[in-house]
Amino acid sequence: MSGRDGTSLLRLADELHVFRQIQRLLERRLGTRAELRPAEVLSAAELAELHAVPAGARGQRTSRDGAAVVVSPVRLAGAVIGEVRVRPPAEADDREVTLVGDLVDVLAEEIGLAAAERRVDSLVEAPTRYRYDDLVGKSEPMRVLQRLLDKVIDSDSTVLVQGENGTGKELIARAIHFNSIRATHRFMVQNCSAFNDNLLDSELFGHKKGAFTGAIADKQGLFELADRGTFFLDEIGDMSPALQVKVLRVVQEGTFTAVGDTESRHVDVRLIAATHRDLRLMVDRGEFREDLFYRVNVINLVVPPLRERREDVPLLIEHFLTRAARTRRGRRPRLARACLDRLAAHDWPGNVRELENEIERLVVLAGDARVIGEELLSPRLLDRAPAPGVPTSTRRLGEARANAERDLIADALARNRWNKTRAAAELGISRRNLIRKVERYNLEPRLRPRPRARR
Ligand SMILES: Nc1ncnc2c1ncn2[C@@H]1O[C@H](COP(=O)(O)OP(=O)(O)OP(=O)(O)O)[C@@H](O)[C@H]1O
Ligand SMILES: [Mg+2]
Repeated sequence: MSGRDGTSLLRLADELHVFRQIQRLLERRLGTRAELRPAEVLSAAELAELHAVPAGARGQRTSRDGAAVVVSPVRLAGAVIGEVRVRPPAEADDREVTLVGDLVDVLAEEIGLAAAERRVDSLVEAPTRYRYDDLVGKSEPMRVLQRLLDKVIDSDSTVLVQGENGTGKELIARAIHFNSIRATHRFMVQNCSAFNDNLLDSELFGHKKGAFTGAIADKQGLFELADRGTFFLDEIGDMSPALQVKVLRVVQEGTFTAVGDTESRHVDVRLIAATHRDLRLMVDRGEFREDLFYRVNVINLVVPPLRERREDVPLLIEHFLTRAARTRRGRRPRLARACLDRLAAHDWPGNVRELENEIERLVVLAGDARVIGEELLSPRLLDRAPAPGVPTSTRRLGEARANAERDLIADALARNRWNKTRAAAELGISRRNLIRKVERYNLEPRLRPRPRARR
């Protein structure tokens, strides 16, 4: 246990009268059964050394060696600067664990107060977690969602993620897992509509050798593999009533029985479920168990469709363009204004996934072109809203190139407020050449195509 911060956080605790009192109390309660000093005080830096993430919430966790620990975060000015941990003995009953938890809470709070009093600023770590790098979006609905994520990450509560297809439900489940205390354990995924009932049962819970034709060996189920980690159960609305019962049991009691087995096994898994269906409605219609619904719906995250957060579209386009360019090791192309307008006006029934696929397609079709024109867009994007002044069915390469050039020049001129000398310099062509092209493309300021009115 090294580290300047940790030592000083522990020293700080050691100086507290209440700390010594509680230590004695714990010692008396837990006796020699406790493997460690009654209470450990770890700083965020020490926790990082242990590859553990400081818990933002109190509760029971599993330490890396598999033992149960009761933890409570130490906070300074809202930031988590460390953690107090106690290992209750294995045979401790619920009441004992609750008592230990209460004492640990008191300790954590006292240490936090003392740190604030003595202005132990050096103890505050730059927050290294709660970063949702892959989750692009700055719209209000996405900000609300991210704030909610901050709150649910450290709890073990079941989360239900609801949203249309392609809105990012799985991405959110991953963000929860990889930012949580469970991140060092597995994140398992199963889509409930992918298999028939028997196969799904064996996938989720495993089977014994000989349980059915083809079961040539014992097989571990995904729930077992996800032990101490997170299980993402996708399309839970498609699950049969028989399997709903099994899932209810594993969520409620942490126990399950493999196919063909007689003994039940125990797992500690956080469940995240997703569906694009209206589960509440399914409950009303008797298609989904009400008890499972309440178990699963402890925390409900609703991911809004992309058409309700249009300001995220340009950010997502940038994100996917950069990624496409990186995977192709090519230059990062730019989208022509007309193309961007079409993308911005589209309704995105397939949400982020549809946009992602569209950008990938554009990049492939564009080849070496530096500017991607709207003529390369999928027909469904061109069908609905033709932009004025630009032909919609451009198929020939010459025309496509001319359109791209026209857009590029119009953009440069607009950026330079129609200062042709500066625009020409930016485009890397002569001023005379630029004037010729402006004439050819009929690009006088008042004639420039305007962005279409949005619906
Ligand atoms: N906010 C986002 N930022 C970046 N990429 C995103 C975002 N949301 C979704 N994606 C990407 O879009 C694709 C679809 O996301 P995901 O698979 O999580 O959606 P889903 O809601 O689970 O879809 P489905 O209902 O079809 O299973 C993925 O490739 C994902 O990386
Ligand atoms: Mg999905």
